[in-house]
Amino acid sequence: MPLDQAGPSATLTPVISVPSALDLDNCSAALPAPHPPIIQVEQLGKQVSSPEGPLVILADIGFAIARGECVAVIGASGSGKSTLLGLLAGLDTPSTGRVWLAGVDLNSLDEDGRALLRAQRVGFVFQSFQLLNGLTALENVMLPLELAGQSDARRQALELLERVGLKARARHYPTQLSGGEQQRVAIARAFAGNPDVLFADEPTGNLDHKTGQRIIDLLFALNREQGTTLVLVTHDPELAAYCDRVLELDEGRLRARSAAGARA
Ligand SMILES: Nc1ncnc2c1ncn2[C@@H]1O[C@H](COP(=O)(O)OP(=O)(O)OP(=O)(O)O)[C@@H](O)[C@H]1O
Ligand SMILES: [Mg+2]
Repeated sequence: MPLDQAGPSATLTPVISVPSALDLDNCSAALPAPHPPIIQVEQLGKQVSSPEGPLVILADIGFAIARGECVAVIGASGSGKSTLLGLLAGLDTPSTGRVWLAGVDLNSLDEDGRALLRAQRVGFVFQSFQLLNGLTALENVMLPLELAGQSDARRQALELLERVGLKARARHYPTQLSGGEQQRVAIARAFAGNPDVLFADEPTGNLDHKTGQRIIDLLFALNREQGTTLVLVTHDPELAAYCDRVLELDEGRLRARSAAGARA
């Protein structure tokens, strides 16, 4: 199932399953010192079986992303963007190749290990927001902070909601919020816990231009302030142009691109 079609429980699993015994800072990293990339990908491939036989979704993907960099992933619908994002974030496992995230080879971790790494290092904004409808905006943002054992989760979550202009809506449930407002809550939640990397799958998809621009400004402001690495899937040329670099997928393969986007 493509990542952006996964059900709410698929989103919850990585957040809730947080084992305590593994210390990821002490994991050995097979990357060169002193400035290893935050993400390194080698010969990554994803293949699934289909009624017509094996289906190659991604093949022979390789690249590295430096800390603090902002990278746009573009490509036609079905080219494998959401699948790639899921593999980079450790939400999905590859058929071939490797991803190192924050110096850790994801293939060396089991599901609990990947869940812990995500909880410590990763924020994810899904194409479809994936807020929990039974929780208020405030509770949605507090959840990852509480699961990480933060004692002042409420204060931090309120600060983040203020940052995205939604403090007055803290007690509202997702169904009481517009699409753009839900997207901003999802971004506040993704930034809770100060992740090293924020993955966002079409963060401005389905939003009007003005709201989309607000979301872009917000992502880059948080990126600057917290030094967060951004990996953004987008169909929006304006958003891609804000990024340091663009990776283009073409039928599951990485296309060589010369120009980097110019960050405004
Ligand atoms: N589990 C799966 N089983 C079969 N096919 C799959 C599976 N997951 C993804 N696909 C197929 O792989 C291709 C890539 O899917 P993916 O969701 O990564 O595309 P995308 O680039 O994100 O597209 P969009 O821009 O429409 O979101 C699609 O053709 C999709 O149907
Ligand atoms: Mg997609």
